[in-house]
Amino acid sequence: MLKFNTFAISCLLFFQLPVTPLPAASLTININAAQPGPRLNPGMYGIFLEEINHGVDGGLYAEMIRNRGFEDAKPPEGFTFRPGNGGRPGRWMAGQYDAESFAGSIRLDYFNPDGTMKDFPYWSLIKDGAAQGSMNLDTNNPLDPAGPRSLRLEIDDPGSGRLGIANEGFFGVGVAAGKKYNLSFWARGEGSSGPLTASVENSAGTPCVVPVTLNGVTGQWTQFHAAMTATQTDAKARFVLTAGARGKVWFDMVSLFPADTFKNRPNGLRPDLAQFLADLKPGFVRFPGGCVIEGGTIETAFNWKDSIGPLPGRREQFGPWGYRETHGMGMFEYLQFCEDIGAAPLYVGFAGETCHFRDVKDVPMDEMGWVTTNFLDAIQFANGPATSPWGKLRAGQGHPESFNLKLVEVGNEGQARTFPPRYQLVHAALKSQYPDISYINDFSFIRRNQMGAEPADIEDNHYYQNPEWFMNNTHLYDNRDRNLPPVYDGEVAVTSGDNSNEHGTLLDALSEGAFLMGLERNADAVKMVSYAPLLANVSGRTDWHGMIYFDSLHSCATVSYYLWKIFGLNRPDYTVAADIDYHPGELAAITGAVGVGTWNNSAEFKDIRIEKDGQLLYASDFTKGTAGWKTEGGNWSVVDGAYRQRNSDPNGLLSYIGDETWSNCTITLKARKVGVRGEGFLIAFGKKGGDKYWWNVGGYGNSQHDVELNQTIIGRPVRSALEPDRWYDVKIVLQDRRIQCFLDDKQIHDISVPAQDRFFANAGRDEASGELVIKAINVSPNPVSGTLHVAGFSQFASQGDLTVLASARLADNNTLSDPQKVIPVNGRITIPGDTFTCDFPANSLTLIRLKTK
Ligand code: AHR
Repeated sequence: MLKFNTFAISCLLFFQLPVTPLPAASLTININAAQPGPRLNPGMYGIFLEEINHGVDGGLYAEMIRNRGFEDAKPPEGFTFRPGNGGRPGRWMAGQYDAESFAGSIRLDYFNPDGTMKDFPYWSLIKDGAAQGSMNLDTNNPLDPAGPRSLRLEIDDPGSGRLGIANEGFFGVGVAAGKKYNLSFWARGEGSSGPLTASVENSAGTPCVVPVTLNGVTGQWTQFHAAMTATQTDAKARFVLTAGARGKVWFDMVSLFPADTFKNRPNGLRPDLAQFLADLKPGFVRFPGGCVIEGGTIETAFNWKDSIGPLPGRREQFGPWGYRETHGMGMFEYLQFCEDIGAAPLYVGFAGETCHFRDVKDVPMDEMGWVTTNFLDAIQFANGPATSPWGKLRAGQGHPESFNLKLVEVGNEGQARTFPPRYQLVHAALKSQYPDISYINDFSFIRRNQMGAEPADIEDNHYYQNPEWFMNNTHLYDNRDRNLPPVYDGEVAVTSGDNSNEHGTLLDALSEGAFLMGLERNADAVKMVSYAPLLANVSGRTDWHGMIYFDSLHSCATVSYYLWKIFGLNRPDYTVAADIDYHPGELAAITGAVGVGTWNNSAEFKDIRIEKDGQLLYASDFTKGTAGWKTEGGNWSVVDGAYRQRNSDPNGLLSYIGDETWSNCTITLKARKVGVRGEGFLIAFGKKGGDKYWWNVGGYGNSQHDVELNQTIIGRPVRSALEPDRWYDVKIVLQDRRIQCFLDDKQIHDISVPAQDRFFANAGRDEASGELVIKAINVSPNPVSGTLHVAGFSQFASQGDLTVLASARLADNNTLSDPQKVIPVNGRITIPGDTFTCDFPANSLTLIRLKTK
């Protein structure tokens, strides 16, 4: 057996392997403007705005006080309380579901440990120093019967301290220094006329605003107003309201709004979030759901009539996404927002069937009258003359003109058998009274032949899929029967297969873009499309994601947002023929440095050997040191001859050896996970530039082994766990693009990494600007240079506009702390004539706008 001087090896044994250039990819795009395709609906790209993930309450709707009306103490409507037993807390149940499981993983704060409702979720009593008093829920003498609960503060003795109430807001009250905030609340007193002092303070109790003091509380409900200016910025402050004299004071509708709202509307919207939406220039807004309109019980289905008029009269209700909806952004505000951003309203109404992901309940057929009437009245509220009963209410809210509602969706994701008769009943009534409106029916969970009579004017479909599905389905509508009603893809997003919890990554965006190109090419069949869900509070989201994320002060848009914006703003009037001739280059072997690492735990590694064709590239002897290893995070040291990472940071903490030329090698080592907590260990290879593979052994909470490329799983994961503190023999054999992984000599994976390079393009004509609009998507870690031939024009401007959305890794995305990591970059492209070249970067969307005649 050969004996090596291992110290010398660990420092010196990095063979530089010769690099043979591989044949490059080739790409030709032939565009022929003489072959026009279908015209696109000018309103094709819209948005779907649902109250989910605190997208509206605690998000777009700018109210900063949570549980302002003290109605959160109300049990979820339509649920019954099942008392606990055997130590199990009680639960609010609707059918076989409890209120918690309705909402997925969201944390509900409504319940006491025994499962009963808390009196004051999100509120607390302030009793500082010698102050004496209490707060109690009161349903006597309500401000409005629609919201019967109020808070009674009993001030026995303010002493030298403070007695009052505090509100934590929606995951913190966010104030920004210099900004103004409008406070309002209703109060009545008994034996007290105030004073009341309002402030916003940080966790140390220091005011973040100039506090305001109000007097004049009487025995009658009176609304108080005050403006406050912030002196400090804090995203997680709390609102406090204290009383200065003995007596009793009742509070209701305690509200704090930023003075700046979108379009300066009172009871308005957060300007940053509303602007993100307005910037999409959506053709339509589908609202207010989704599952929200269906409800989890018939009592919690969205009833727009509870959402209009003065705020105290709007009935709040528990929503299917795990929190109570204030209806502060109600029917009128949705319609107003549509008008403010120049989008057509698309109202979705409850059609008698609750959400089929919860406790499916159907309104009995002989009781469907109110369901139908609600649709008819909604249309009258939106469009009817100011003299009509519901039009008058709209006019009373400040909008005598019609909102011109032309799109109405009857139900959301109805299911077979029970939904069709309800749809037919409602649709027939609507069609006879309002024949000019287009009615939409969702076919996501029902087939056309199950619907029977009353065909829809537009058919809705929802696609929550993985990136591969979207790329593979760019031709989904190529063969659709054009005699069928047109399509609206109302809910579209990558929600799996991207190894991301946030979604909207560059990979997700590009694959959604490939799908959208197919919709544009089939625009004679597909009239509308929207992404879902749209908004997500980073602290208040469900299992669902958002296209735009935010906290109480900051916001950011995902890469998907920017891609959809590029598509929406560069919608051609009609497509033209665009044929792609694309040959990916020969696929390179997996090549790059080797590494070891951890995820959310500590692990040790030793006896590392890397061989190629019987030659030793590297062998470790950590007793002699760690020369040659380059760490990327973590806390690395040598313990008893093993290389140990002891930091439990959740991110992948790695250390690498070797260089970017290593390929076709066999890696052997011993590894063990240290301690029970966290995951197993990571063995990286093919680390080149920003790209890397790793074998994730005991990943996903020590539940599975899988191979990942840039943290996206490739091949099939194997369910298994590692024993803590046990040394395992690890072997990885790399042959070209084949990866074989062994644990204790047992083969766990045998994966051939497929070609991942994909190229998509389409083209169309913008008549107003006289431009040819070309969109191209390169889903590949390699740039590709393409030749474009454009027929059908005699003149070309010498330069065109170029917009590129790209990043080093397909997994890249924007975050609140790095909101501009992946955003479009504008440039110019030289156009010598009808044939020109364009370099399409790796992992990119490229948009070319080119003046032609
Ligand atoms: O977008 C989230 C939900 O997904 C919608 O509420 C519903 O329509 C679909 O099931």
